[in-house]
Amino acid sequence: MKTGQTQTILIVDDNPTNIKVLFDFLKECAYKVLVAKSGESAIEKAQQASPDLILLDVMMPGIDGFETCRRLKASDVTESIPVIFMTALSDPLDKVKGLRLGAVDYITKPFQQEEVLARLQLHLKLSGMTKRLAEQNELLEQRVAERTAKLAQSLKELQQTQLQLVQKEKMSLLGQLMAGLGHEINNPVNFISGNINLAQEYVEALLQHLQLYRDAFPDPGEEIQEHAEEIDLEYLQEDLPKMIGTLKEGTDRLRQISSSMRVFSRADTSAKVACNIHEGIDSTLIILKHRLKENNKRPAIEVIKEYGDLPPVNCFPGQLNQVFMNLIANAIDALEESSQELSYQEIKANPNQITIRTSVGKQNETVAISVKDNGIGMSEEVRSQLFDQLFTTKAVGKGTGLGLSISQQIVVEKHHGKLSCISAPGQGAEFVIVIPVNQPDRGEPAPESAAQLAKRQSGICSGLSSGPGN
Ligand SMILES: Nc1ncnc2c1ncn2[C@@H]1O[C@H](COP(=O)(O)OP(=O)(O)OP(=O)(O)O)[C@@H](O)[C@H]1O
Ligand SMILES: [Mg+2]
Repeated sequence: MKTGQTQTILIVDDNPTNIKVLFDFLKECAYKVLVAKSGESAIEKAQQASPDLILLDVMMPGIDGFETCRRLKASDVTESIPVIFMTALSDPLDKVKGLRLGAVDYITKPFQQEEVLARLQLHLKLSGMTKRLAEQNELLEQRVAERTAKLAQSLKELQQTQLQLVQKEKMSLLGQLMAGLGHEINNPVNFISGNINLAQEYVEALLQHLQLYRDAFPDPGEEIQEHAEEIDLEYLQEDLPKMIGTLKEGTDRLRQISSSMRVFSRADTSAKVACNIHEGIDSTLIILKHRLKENNKRPAIEVIKEYGDLPPVNCFPGQLNQVFMNLIANAIDALEESSQELSYQEIKANPNQITIRTSVGKQNETVAISVKDNGIGMSEEVRSQLFDQLFTTKAVGKGTGLGLSISQQIVVEKHHGKLSCISAPGQGAEFVIVIPVNQPDRGEPAPESAAQLAKRQSGICSGLSSGPGN
């Protein structure tokens, strides 16, 4: 607030005698004084000079004091300048009108000089304090905004950490379980499949031998003949090799599942390793096979693979597999939902499909993996919240709303990539992951050249031999 001589008072009056009396008096009191003889010129001067206070006459030619005051209060520039009305009228209604228009006080003519000075000083002081208060308030608001921003940032970091913890826990539990199961299944399966091959050889040899006997002794006697009929030897001879074939198929499938479990659970690596993306997707599909196959409500979900020629990708394989798992599981959920309103036959005519497409970007720098379904699709409202933590449209117990936010974090933060979604209601959904092939991470060794990667690929990417279950 200006003090003493630097404070400026604008006198607005059309009467020269009034002006002179006030002018001389205020000058004497060491104020800087400006004069306006009409409402219009008062507004102009107030805009230009920003006086500290305005003494405003009510009765003037042109716009009167009330209108002048209304216009001053309506402008951002002059709104906060205190206005004191000067009125010869003793009508209390006019005083009230002035105050309602935003004036801070009024003085009646003829003036008592001491009174004018006292009111003037009071309002100058008040206005100075108000200004300081506003400044303090602004400062305070600024500080509050800064603190709020900091708090919001901390909250975000906390949520991220929480998400990471959940993800780590989920992954390590799932990984341990899968790796353990894979390992447990692997030993007996190897044992069975090794013996089945032998058993197949033995059975074939025995059958051959039997045939030789039968050819050499076409009439083996009554007892043997009767026994052959009893055990239906013809059928047995024909069925036994088939049965062994089926057993072999079963154990092969078991072996595939146990390998996939171990490939899928490669969440063990603390640094990125060069990996075969297709191997990760395939192992995920095998683990989700039970959800893809036919059930009494719908035919099997068709999985269409359109794999491109991908180079090995430097990544955390266990985490990327988790992303594939989330995307494919969501696609299955979306297909289950759209199937609810359709009959088995209707679905058969327009089959449920998941298309998994992979491609490599320009100059082999990025790879894209797209998971597309022809399920229920989603509204723009859902699409805009997809990646929000805990956002789910699924029933309690069915969805936690973490799948996509975790996936996004894995793709964006851990692999410097992008995860996007294209979808509309009834049009299915397509999720696209784009990640760089080589990605230097802070604190991690620099990525290898493509040639080095290719050289190492056979060793590292065989995947099946490097899982934790070995
Ligand atoms: N392929 C899809 N088609 C239609 N809607 C989808 C698809 N994928 C995701 N959504 C929508 O996005 C929401 C969030 O998915 P997200 O995977 O994050 O959580 P969720 O599947 O509900 O639960 P969970 O934590 O078990 O994965 C889903 O509830 C669903 O509404
Ligand atoms: Mg999900």
